[in-house]
Amino acid sequence: MRTRMIAAAMMVLASSAAQARSSIWDGVYSDAQADRGHTAYMQNCSRCHGVTLMGTFEIPPLVGRIMPYYASSSLGALFDYISTAMPLDHPGALSPAVNADIVAYILKSNDVPSGAKELTAAGVKDISFDAARPGRSAKH
Ligand code: HEC
Repeated sequence: MRTRMIAAAMMVLASSAAQARSSIWDGVYSDAQADRGHTAYMQNCSRCHGVTLMGTFEIPPLVGRIMPYYASSSLGALFDYISTAMPLDHPGALSPAVNADIVAYILKSNDVPSGAKELTAAGVKDISFDAARPGRSAKH
């Protein structure tokens, strides 16, 4: 937990240098993709993280506090973690496309709005993970 906080703090410094990046709040996944991600989540993740993503006493939830944990990093940090460390009993078993779908589903489950485009494995590192929806003044 503590190393994660320090890493997040360092990412704040790194991300301020890269302001041209888009944010998770810019509609970076589609509803159809999140639906596919839901199916993949149910098959590969729900038995541990739960059908409502709430986790258990020993397994972290994927809604709520996951937002501040990954805040100020890029969406690639969450994607890479899932790609390399999950499912816990078969790490790295899922394809990049399926992992992108699951990330889309996790975003949707955290009330991050969808858009027209699909999230791609190649694009995740260029999307900044802002925990809270920013003010409307910067974009749109
Ligand atoms: C066999 C049980 C199990 C399965 C299946 C599983 N996880 Fe996990 N997951 C865990 C445990 C336990 C942790 C905590 C690991 C740690 O702290 O080192 C975790 C941690 C995570 C985290 C980090 C959460 C945080 O707060 O930082 C994410 C994200 C995650 N899992 C996503 C997934 C996804 C997506 C899938 C399906 C592709 C999945 N997990 C499948 C048990 C599982």
